[in-house]
Amino acid sequence: MIDRMQGKISLVTGATNGIGKITAMALAKQGATVVIIGRNAQKTQETQEEIRRESGNAQIDYIVADLSSMAQVRTAAQTFRSKYKQLHVLVNNAGALFNERQVSADGYEMTFALNHLNYFLLTHELLDLLIASGSASQKARVVNVSSLAHTGGKIDFDDLNSSKRYRGFGAYAQSKLANILFSNELARRMQQANAPVTSNALHPGFVATGFGQGNSGILTFIFKIIRPFAISPEKGAETSIYLASSPEVEGVTGQYFADKKAAKPAAQATDLATAQRLWQVSEQMTQ
Ligand SMILES: NC(=O)c1ccc[n+]([C@@H]2O[C@H](COP(=O)([O-])OP(=O)(O)OC[C@H]3O[C@@H](n4cnc5c(N)ncnc54)[C@H](OP(=O)(O)O)[C@@H]3O)[C@@H](O)[C@H]2O)c1
Repeated sequence: MIDRMQGKISLVTGATNGIGKITAMALAKQGATVVIIGRNAQKTQETQEEIRRESGNAQIDYIVADLSSMAQVRTAAQTFRSKYKQLHVLVNNAGALFNERQVSADGYEMTFALNHLNYFLLTHELLDLLIASGSASQKARVVNVSSLAHTGGKIDFDDLNSSKRYRGFGAYAQSKLANILFSNELARRMQQANAPVTSNALHPGFVATGFGQGNSGILTFIFKIIRPFAISPEKGAETSIYLASSPEVEGVTGQYFADKKAAKPAAQATDLATAQRLWQVSEQMTQ
């Protein structure tokens, strides 16, 4: 076990499968205390046991929450705070694509709720812990798993919930664009406040995970056809692990990464006015 992350407390969402699970495992192998969030109690507990067993690290904990529900995001953050007084690394990773329009417990379109509002609210609920845990030489880190799909996205402020017209991929692209806008705006705010927290977004690659598997119809068919071209979850998690733990990115903030390198996101992902407006609207939606 490499002990690069010894003494660090990390929280990984969507860690019961795919990229999140590999990320949590890698942080555990580096000696971090790892808290995973999953929505299914049994699967989450089994994942905790698997990570403990395979990493040889006993400091693995879990919280059960459906992160599409803002009440459950809040409860998960409270549960975390009741047990841990520090948070050095938050990996916002849980996400999905929904072929059919679904509505969350709060009445929001499911993709926007799970993929964006969850990242936004969980980070806010834990931001003071992140700020208190970082230092000038070792900043706390927020890692936001986005996607190249953001390039096809547009933030539709007139219909964020896609109630007029729903297209699964369009809603997904909007949410992944929101991830980068949120990540950048958080980085800016932390810099302005001189707070020791970095925030970066990433594209993991096209990865053979559970992603897209729960859908029916044309999307399932498309995912089946293109799956042989996908990279492994181990490869797909590399950029998340890099941003969460590598000394090479100490202090790096407000960037978008792919393949462990800073990359240029689409122009709409770096628009300041859109990022600030989205921040305000997200605050209202998560009140
Ligand atoms: N795979 C790709 O090609 C690809 C490409 C670009 C970006 N991404 C992004 O990578 C991230 C991880 O996806 P993945 O590919 O690893 O997919 P995955 O294998 O389907 O894993 C998604 C994780 O999110 C969890 N999750 C889903 N809905 C949830 C909810 N309502 N509450 C709490 N947790 C929930 C899942 O829990 P269960 O285990 O219970 O299902 C699972 O742990 C996502 O943000 C996705 O947008 C993936």
